[in-house]
Amino acid sequence: MQKSRHSGAQSAISSFSGPHVAVIMDGNGRWATAHGLTRSAGHEAGLRTAREIVEASVREGVGTLTLYAFSSDNWKRPTPEVTALMRLFRRALLGEAKRCLENGVRLTILGRRDRLPSSLRHTIEQVEALTASGARMHLRVAVDYSARDAVLRAAAALRGDGVTREQFSELLARVDHDRLPACEVDLLIRTGGEQRLSDFLLWECAYAELLFVEKMWPEFTADDLGEALADFRGRNRRFGLAPEQVAS
Ligand code: IPE
Ligand code: IPE
Ligand code: MG
Repeated sequence: MQKSRHSGAQSAISSFSGPHVAVIMDGNGRWATAHGLTRSAGHEAGLRTAREIVEASVREGVGTLTLYAFSSDNWKRPTPEVTALMRLFRRALLGEAKRCLENGVRLTILGRRDRLPSSLRHTIEQVEALTASGARMHLRVAVDYSARDAVLRAAAALRGDGVTREQFSELLARVDHDRLPACEVDLLIRTGGEQRLSDFLLWECAYAELLFVEKMWPEFTADDLGEALADFRGRNRRFGLAPEQVAS
């Protein structure tokens, strides 16, 4: 059992019950290279994993799942890889929308939109509208996402002085097109062996439990997610309190 979820700190603010799991889906390229494939083939394999993990998350009772698909710094990659990724995102959204609807999954895209191809932007709007009634799990896919840029844009949108953490969370969500307040991450998983955040959810991960996995993203399975959640439930979260205060 998860030992404590103290609400005195920034508590998770979400209408979806269940933990917020965020995943840095890293390792597609290295996995592909190791198998003699192109990096784009690695991203295709990564999409298959994402599909499996979304379904497993619904079964496991995850409330919100945020997947890091493309960082703002990823624009600096070679143009053919970026173009292939943008095409893949559009195809994935078109393919997944119906499945999300059937599974009660609300799908939204987090991040800047003004630099995305207009066809992708249009598809995002369609898919968000189609799945807006999903109440079982909120799936957020971060595309052209930079936590530092989001914090800067939210700060710039502040009017007057004095703002609560909750109000700032709302602003932070709004600047990245999320109508729900940015909810605190409970568990952050990064595959691919690196142990860094790479500009992902810096505000929302203030008290996140961190789990770094050696496997490359295309190798990550539903069983691995189950193990990660079991590990998370066994952790003792204190949110700044003394252990005795959270023991009961
Ligand atoms: C993560 O995999 C997916 C994206 C960043 C789009 P990478 O493409 O970063 O894979 P590695 O880290 O090079 O193996
Ligand atoms: C972070 O991975 C972004 C995504 C997984 C989408 P990167 O592969 O871009 O991160 P760095 O460059 O290793 O920090
Ligand atoms: Mg990487």
